[in-house]
Amino acid sequence: MVKRYDAVVVGGGGAGLRTAIEIARDSSLKVALVSKVFPTRSHTGAAQGGMNAALGNVIADDSPEAHAYDTIKGSDFLADQDAVFFMTENAPEIIYELDRWGVPFSRLEDGRIAQRPFGGASFPRTVYAADKTGHVLLHTLFEQALAKENIDFYNEFFLLDLIHDGERVLGVHIYDIRNGEVLLLQAKAVILATGGFARIYWFRSTNAVGNTGDGQAVALRNGIPLKDVEFIQFHPTGLAKTGILLSEACRGEGGYLVNKLGERFMKRYAPEKMELAPRDMVSRAIEYEIMEGRGVGEGARAYVYLDLRHLGEEKINERLPQVRQLAMDFEGVDPVKDLVPIRPTAHYCMGGIHVTDYRTSATPLKGLYAVGECACVSVHGANRLGGNSLTELIVFGKYCGIAVKEFVKETDFGNIPQGETLKEKEMIENLMKREGNENLAQIRSRMGEITWAKMGIFRDEKSLKEAYEELSGLLERWENIPVVDKSRVFNTNLIEVLELRNMLELARAVAYAALHRKESRGGHTREDYPERDDENFLKHTLVFYKNGELSIDYIPVRITKYKPTERKY
Ligand code: FUM
Repeated sequence: MVKRYDAVVVGGGGAGLRTAIEIARDSSLKVALVSKVFPTRSHTGAAQGGMNAALGNVIADDSPEAHAYDTIKGSDFLADQDAVFFMTENAPEIIYELDRWGVPFSRLEDGRIAQRPFGGASFPRTVYAADKTGHVLLHTLFEQALAKENIDFYNEFFLLDLIHDGERVLGVHIYDIRNGEVLLLQAKAVILATGGFARIYWFRSTNAVGNTGDGQAVALRNGIPLKDVEFIQFHPTGLAKTGILLSEACRGEGGYLVNKLGERFMKRYAPEKMELAPRDMVSRAIEYEIMEGRGVGEGARAYVYLDLRHLGEEKINERLPQVRQLAMDFEGVDPVKDLVPIRPTAHYCMGGIHVTDYRTSATPLKGLYAVGECACVSVHGANRLGGNSLTELIVFGKYCGIAVKEFVKETDFGNIPQGETLKEKEMIENLMKREGNENLAQIRSRMGEITWAKMGIFRDEKSLKEAYEELSGLLERWENIPVVDKSRVFNTNLIEVLELRNMLELARAVAYAALHRKESRGGHTREDYPERDDENFLKHTLVFYKNGELSIDYIPVRITKYKPTERKY
């Protein structure tokens, strides 16, 4: 079945919804919003602590320029500075817009929007709704999108492939998870907003299990480069047993990190900012404490503590209610009276689909755009500051939508190549019939072991080479994983097989990019190259397929105002 839309947005989280709303403001345009899960289950809903904008409501001296500088310094000077300024200058306006749309932000006594301190920020700049900011943002955006009569929702549809002629995008193939039908959506513009892929760290991640990088993997297979994918963010405070997120807001509200001796160990690593140093530094500090025997326990099960007890029950219930519940449900401790065992957990992908113009979020393929965590515009460089993710997806979603409205008005639908309609239907049929003796769960588990052990917080030449080779081996073995469930209705086995291929390809691309970056910067710590090397590596990595093999190239970082300096906090 073929359907036609001016624009197809793939992804029903904050980035996808915000982009779709903007395009649909022109009622003459037809928009499709495709989402693997029901939109309100998207991973944006898991964002807890807040979003950054220099409103200056707590300290009036804050400014978009200060926000930009903090972001650039936090990025270890790898962010494109013009893109960062674009984000920070537009951030206040998009907060007030969200406020008008009904996002229930927490308030100061005088009624203005409250702001809390977050890591790496020189002012209390993070706007929040207790510790459920992403949840309320997602629901408000979904309501706004539902109110648009020109958006058709394709909920619980999986992205199979892009359709293009090498010059321009022509549409997408999608799979209806509810009944197994394959659909072709013809489009003038396609916007990928499928979120991150930190689930490649299968056993220890804050990410939803659906964060498998479907958009990035499809882009990569279609020859579109991924940028800076070696930079993975490890959030310092994952619950020790599960890796579930405990918001940075815990530290923003005054929480401490302590080792088994009861010491606030951050004084050794970031004496000024202490627990509110950027995430890359805090995560490494926790790991050093554990390596040097000041953590509790040893090896993979070791941890340090988050101490919130001094905040008191009233403040914890008002500002951190979800954190308290998560600690009780998943770790069996109550932060009001207990220390909470924590350890870093894979959280965010700084890299993503190569965006060539931050004003529009265009990619190298005409008519294809990428927004949110699945894109790399690049505003986070080598390390994202907490609270900049929600800001990014709303600012760039809005401006991408504005650009797409213009683009589709001057573009025709193009011609879908012959045979295209059946291609993905056949792929699914062949996959359903596939026989083989490999086991989905075993290969996925092995991927999780490799990513954590060989391309985690610390890496080196040997571990990365091993990761690359072993992941290549797993990709070959993927060809022999059978789909054992033959049903057409909610066949989660089939979806997991498709997701695993996406994760394996992306994990291998991360290993490949990390292997070539012979320096340490932000979230990429090479034990064999411990220093930042601006002379050779102040540049963005592009990875892409060339003749079926991964290949690498570099492009310059756009430095408009701030020369790189040593990062001290
Ligand atoms: O810690 C947090 O609440 C996460 C925020 C973020 O990743 O921006």
